[in-house]
Amino acid sequence: MSQTAIITGANGGIGSAIAATLAKNGYNVVLHYHKRNENVIELQNILPTERSMAMSADVNDFDAVEKVVKAATDKFGTIDVLVNNVGIAMDSTLLKMSKQQWDNVIGTNLTGMYNFTKPVAQCMVENGTGVIVNISSVVGEGGNFGQTNYSASKADVIGFTKSLAKELAAKGVRVNAVAPGFVDTEMTRKIPDGIRAKITEQIPMKRFGTPDEIADTVLFLCRATYVTGSVIDVNGGLR
Ligand SMILES: NC(=O)c1ccc[n+]([C@@H]2O[C@H](COP(=O)([O-])OP(=O)(O)OC[C@H]3O[C@@H](n4cnc5c(N)ncnc54)[C@H](OP(=O)(O)O)[C@@H]3O)[C@@H](O)[C@H]2O)c1
Repeated sequence: MSQTAIITGANGGIGSAIAATLAKNGYNVVLHYHKRNENVIELQNILPTERSMAMSADVNDFDAVEKVVKAATDKFGTIDVLVNNVGIAMDSTLLKMSKQQWDNVIGTNLTGMYNFTKPVAQCMVENGTGVIVNISSVVGEGGNFGQTNYSASKADVIGFTKSLAKELAAKGVRVNAVAPGFVDTEMTRKIPDGIRAKITEQIPMKRFGTPDEIADTVLFLCRATYVTGSVIDVNGGLR
C-alpha cells in the first residue's frame, strides 16, 4: 500500500518540488497550501484523485491545521511523512524591526511547525512509525544581516528537530531537518541583483540551489532508516 506524505506550503517553490518528488516516488500527497494554489492544482491534475488531496490553512491557526490532519487521515488512513516546509521572511535590522515583523516570522516558522507536528506526531506514535522532515536554513546555523527574526526561527527549527528526535526515536518516528542555502524561489527572487551577485560569489559552487535539489534530500531522509536528529546542509558548500 502507498505511503502518505503531508507537505506544508506545497504551493511554494521548494514545497511544490518536494510534493512532486514524493508523488513521483509513489507517495500519496496531502498538499497543504495557504492563499495561492496554482502549483497545487497543476500537480493534482497529473495525479489520480485517490493519490492526492489539497487543503488550505493558515499554519498559525491550530484548529485549522488539525482539520487538515483529520481530513488527511480520514482519506488515507495514516500519515507516514510530514514535511514542515512553510516559512516566511520579513527582513529588517533588529533596531528597525517592528514587533509585528518579529511575531509574524516566529509565529509562522516556529509555532506553525508545532501546530502541524503535534497532531501528526500523535498519529505516527499510534502507528509506531513515521518520518518528519523540517526545513531550516543555512542562516539558522550561521546568522545573517537583517534576519534576526528569520534566523532565530530557523535555529529553533533545529533545536525542535533534535529534541523531538530524542522523544520519538523509541516510538518508531524519525525527525530530521534540511538546511538549504540560497535556493532559486520567489523568496530569493526578491533579492536585488547586486546583492544576489555578491552572495553567488560567496557560494563555493557559484550558484543558487534548485528546489529539486532540496526535494531529493527530503526523499533521502524519508528512506534513511537509521538517520534521526540530523540536519543535512544543502548549500553548495556555503558553510
Ligand atoms: N528559498 C531559499 O533560498 C530558502 C533557503 C533556506 C530555507 N528556505 C526555507 O524553505 C521553505 C520554503 O521556502 P520557499 O523558498 O519555497 O518559499 P515560498 O516559495 O515563498 O513558499 C513558502 C510557502 O509558505 C506558504 N505560507 C506562508 N505563510 C503561511 C501561513 N501563515 N500559513 C500557511 N502557509 C503559509 C506560502 O503560501 P502563500 O504564498 O499562499 O502565502 C508559500 O506557499 C521555507 O521554510 C524557507 O524558509 C528557503
